[in-house]
Amino acid sequence: MTHPAGRERVKSPAPGAATVIRAAGLAKTYPKASTAAVDGIDLQVRQGELFGLLGPNGAGKTTTVGMLTARVVPTAGSAYVGGTDVVADPTLAKQLIAVVSQQNTLDRSLTVWENLYFHGLLFGIPRRESRSTADALLEQFHLSRWGKSPVSALSGGMAQRLMVARAIFHRPAVLFLDEPTAGLDPQGRLALWEALEGLIADGQTILLTTHNMDEADHLCDRVAIIDHGRILALDTPAALKQGLGADAVVTVATSGSQEGLAARLNSDIEGAVRTRLVDGAVEMQVKGAERLLPRVVTSAEAGGFELLDLSIAESTLETVFISLTGQELRD
Ligand SMILES: Nc1ncnc2c1ncn2[C@@H]1O[C@H](COP(=O)(O)OP(=O)(O)O)[C@@H](O)[C@H]1O
Ligand SMILES: [Mg+2]
Repeated sequence: MTHPAGRERVKSPAPGAATVIRAAGLAKTYPKASTAAVDGIDLQVRQGELFGLLGPNGAGKTTTVGMLTARVVPTAGSAYVGGTDVVADPTLAKQLIAVVSQQNTLDRSLTVWENLYFHGLLFGIPRRESRSTADALLEQFHLSRWGKSPVSALSGGMAQRLMVARAIFHRPAVLFLDEPTAGLDPQGRLALWEALEGLIADGQTILLTTHNMDEADHLCDRVAIIDHGRILALDTPAALKQGLGADAVVTVATSGSQEGLAARLNSDIEGAVRTRLVDGAVEMQVKGAERLLPRVVTSAEAGGFELLDLSIAESTLETVFISLTGQELRD
């Protein structure tokens, strides 16, 4: 599958690149909570990498970002960003990072350009330099023609790009983005992806969270799949999908017994890896997609099953998530 915003570059940072984020046994149990929001996370992110935390609502993504950015105090474990101990030295850590949270934190009383300019002044950057950096960032994020507009005139996607532009004003060692494209329309999402690709091309290290498997697949060098506060798998999107041992997903709907059809396909179809019932259809992961369609039709018809619908898709990170958890990654 190709994608207009798909990156051409090799999806891995330079070998030997420095480790910029290092978390070990990182955990958080909120006061009065019976279970841990984050339950012992180990990960390392290298210089120049776009690293994704992929998981459903409540998985612990925001809490993890909170701990890595010195906003949430861990109950256990350690976190280092750019060699700085985030827990022991949160003030220094905060100078090295930038966070774009899920809330719109733009100043509504200022114009688009002023949101950048005053941010520069706030960081102690001289007026002249703040002015030129604000201009350059508007250009880079395709917002120049909105410079004089109030931020209320921006679409959700443009506001999100402005927040990213503001976040990188002081050239942070790591940019954290918490669900940056949640709630954006497809066009806004694509424009943000392009902006992030531009940042990565400039060497910016990025950690983002998402519950969108397509986003993780297309954008991230490596992905940690997280659920119930634990990392279930961590690798490149390609390696995660290869690890499934299946390269296609067949979905078949029948007017007859689904259990019966599932059992029949499972024994008939060579390369059947996993079969489950979902939304009134049989879904089967298969290794070896050659002539899959006729093989499925022949098997079903020989078994006397009337087929209502049949589709074949490539394995995705969603398939990986399902095989790890038995559940859908709800969008
Ligand atoms: N401030 C908080 N106080 C208590 N519980 C919280 C707080 N923030 C998050 N949680 C709980 O911690 C778990 C993980 O939440 P969160 O990190 O926000 O997940 P995600 O960002 O993946 O949706 C959830 O069960 C959530 O209800
Ligand atoms: Mg969240």
